Amino acid sequence: MEEEKTQDILILAVESSCDETAASVVKNGQEVLSNVISSQIELHTLYGGVVPEIASRKHIERINQVIEEALSKAGVTLDEITAIAVTYGPGLVGALLVGVSAAKAISFAADKPLIGVHHIEGHISANYIENKTLEPPFACLVVSGGHTHLVAVKDYGEYEILGYTRDDAAGEAFDKVARAIGLGYPGGPKIDKISREGNPDAIHFPRAKVDGANYDFSFSGLKSAVLNYLNTCQMKGIEINKADVAASFQKAVVDVLVEHSLSAVKEYHFEKFAIAGGVASNSALRTAFETACQKQKIAFYYPSPIFCTDNAAMIGVAGYYEYRKGTRSGFDLNAVPNLRLGER
Ligand code: KG4
Ligand code: ZN
Repeated sequence: MEEEKTQDILILAVESSCDETAASVVKNGQEVLSNVISSQIELHTLYGGVVPEIASRKHIERINQVIEEALSKAGVTLDEITAIAVTYGPGLVGALLVGVSAAKAISFAADKPLIGVHHIEGHISANYIENKTLEPPFACLVVSGGHTHLVAVKDYGEYEILGYTRDDAAGEAFDKVARAIGLGYPGGPKIDKISREGNPDAIHFPRAKVDGANYDFSFSGLKSAVLNYLNTCQMKGIEINKADVAASFQKAVVDVLVEHSLSAVKEYHFEKFAIAGGVASNSALRTAFETACQKQKIAFYYPSPIFCTDNAAMIGVAGYYEYRKGTRSGFDLNAVPNLRLGER
């Protein structure tokens, strides 16, 4: 008797929430058949940060080409796709709308189900791509340019936020400090690099705690402390050592992220811990978590840098689990700039 072949689930995913126009084809939630990312970083570098109106216009110019390339690189026709997943929030409204509109048009024209995906759920799901054995429950720290969330991943698509930033996101702090010491945008990778030549104990910057909320974060005080330090040096005519400032700032961020995350992992009795988002590719952060998790006998997971920063493969993975749960979006799906995790 011939064995019945289970049908592969192929998700075409689209991501346009910030400054990357991205599309991907993901097979069965784990195999990335293509991962096309058209970055606008160079364009925004001129302005020292993302200019929303420019981002939307660039997405419009590139989206169709990026989607076509994702299909052709995957060697898959639109007909073979099972469903279309798209980031519908949070993010820049004009940027999100481009991806959402493109996904809706394809879903309508090709008669394929449409699935709206939360951007943070995408970042968390990036961990499933290379860690085939990772399954919920686990705790995940999502650190990016727009978000700093400590999340309990109770099941696929089931989340509880344990802590979040009260002001700046971790990546935002990296970007602002980098700008202040003249490293340019985006600051995270530049601070990461220059810090390797600096002394992380050269300057003591504050490690902020939020009263009564052990797992919440605050980075604006740290950012101000760095700015104050730079101003004081300038006034006194002292030449600053950029590498020392970068390394000391980075250590202050890493210390707080590790301490808060690991104490939550302990209190909630998690055996697994993951990181996600652009800042998760920071080398000092990875090393610090590796050491801390090893000490506490916690399994530690992290995606490759290409799956840490914004990409559509992570949306395809999250879309796969949402598809299996039966999540379907209508053609009234809208961009929701401040969408909360767990909300629909
Ligand atoms: O996840 P992502 O691409 O976009 C958002 O969803 O926000 O994250 C971008 C952020 C930027 O703030 C960037 O400076 C930061 O991630 N980043 C890093 C590193 N690579 C990217 N921060 C620290 N170290 C890095 N190596
Ligand atoms: Zn992101």
